[in-house]
Amino acid sequence: MSAKQSGYVTDVTYPAHFHKEIQPVWLATVATLKGLQVPDIAQGYSYCELGCGLGVNLLVAAACNPLGEFVGVDFNAQHIAFARQSAEALGLKNLRFIQADFAEFAQSNALFFDFMVSHGVWSWIPASTQQQVLKAVQRGLKPKGLFYLHYMCHPGSTQMMPVQKLLNELAHSLSGTSEQNMGAGLDLLTRLDLAGVFHDQPTLSASLTQLQKMNKAYLAHDLLSDHWNPQHSVDVHRMAAQFGLTYLDSANAFEMIEALSIPQSAQALIANVSSPAVRETLKDLARSQRQRQDLFQKQPQALTAEVCVQRISQMVFELMPAAPHSGGQVFRTPIGDIDGPAELLSPVLQRLAQGPAQVAELCRLPVYAGNLPQLMQSLLLLMWRGHVHPQRPDGPANPVEAGALRSWIKQHDLKIEAVPSCGTAVVDEAVRNVQPGSR
Ligand SMILES: C[S@@+](CC[C@H](N)C(=O)[O-])C[C@H]1O[C@@H](n2cnc3c(N)ncnc32)[C@H](O)[C@@H]1O
Repeated sequence: MSAKQSGYVTDVTYPAHFHKEIQPVWLATVATLKGLQVPDIAQGYSYCELGCGLGVNLLVAAACNPLGEFVGVDFNAQHIAFARQSAEALGLKNLRFIQADFAEFAQSNALFFDFMVSHGVWSWIPASTQQQVLKAVQRGLKPKGLFYLHYMCHPGSTQMMPVQKLLNELAHSLSGTSEQNMGAGLDLLTRLDLAGVFHDQPTLSASLTQLQKMNKAYLAHDLLSDHWNPQHSVDVHRMAAQFGLTYLDSANAFEMIEALSIPQSAQALIANVSSPAVRETLKDLARSQRQRQDLFQKQPQALTAEVCVQRISQMVFELMPAAPHSGGQVFRTPIGDIDGPAELLSPVLQRLAQGPAQVAELCRLPVYAGNLPQLMQSLLLLMWRGHVHPQRPDGPANPVEAGALRSWIKQHDLKIEAVPSCGTAVVDEAVRNVQPGSR
């Protein structure tokens, strides 16, 4: 088998990964928090993942969101075969997989979607294929539809560029599988590191130590693509705009809280800049941003302030499995540890430990005294950490499908736990605490 298709690794299977930020309830929630009209997930809706890999995100989504119709697209035959077998084993009627290249899909797709997402794909494909992804979204996304795009960016990923180049060139010169070539590349890098080559780049040296501990199949996908290329977020936003997509914000709950995710010393500097492109570039610099989880919308329409507050107040939040029931929290963030004080977080955790609660009720907790922005900041932090999640607005999930999903997760030893009432899953604490890779 050829090791690559269109420069992308295909001779090794990408490990199963789950991303809560691409699930429909999460996306609809964060766009509502931005004050926008969103697809109504209490009614039927449609959803497409471009580059779905083994389909884990979609299998969870389809089993836990009975009103959604889900489609996954990927050109890797082994990925699609696994995904299809799994959907069949789970008895899912609202999920189908299409084995196709993005260019083919952009050309042939006749479906329209409320949500389109792509995680772990964009920075690994050539510019011409990126255009095809955007073409597929331009054609397939409904007005008000949401598009989530994950990619590697400057300046946080810049230092990996020469390392990736070396690994890619080395792999081309060897005859092993991508996984074996990755191992050979890491050995070479480790020897270079021990020889002191990276002594002036201590963070790179630390990253290499982390890479040595990681799954080689994952790293082969991550670092052996011929087209791996981090970008400046403003360049991606300009490209997306040419395809009718408006950038809303990060879908990462921590990054949505600029008061916390940007070092305080840089906040005034950024606030005083009028150009959105300069502001966004400053934010990437201030956060040393490594990857982005950007949310775009086609033809966004703002909610009135009154309706927005009403929609947020009606959201119901639930405590996630293994979340603490009280206390303060230290949040390990890319800009250092942040203290979530017990006086703000404990009342929310204690209340949710008794059962789900509406935002309107949480806002009446004495410590918030009707201060909705302050409550939402606490809830976003807890969402980001995987401790709380908004519930689905459309009633209970199908217990048969939810039960089958739990057994399937166990059978495949995935480190996630399904939470059907929220249309999602949570990643096990032990996995969450491991330094994340690129995607
Ligand atoms: C790293 S995986 C991401 C899987 C999943 N989205 C996730 O985040 O776990 C990237 C996927 O994109 C697929 N892919 C890459 N280039 C593609 C193309 N041109 N057309 C269709 N699929 C492609 C690969 O086969 C792979 O399954």
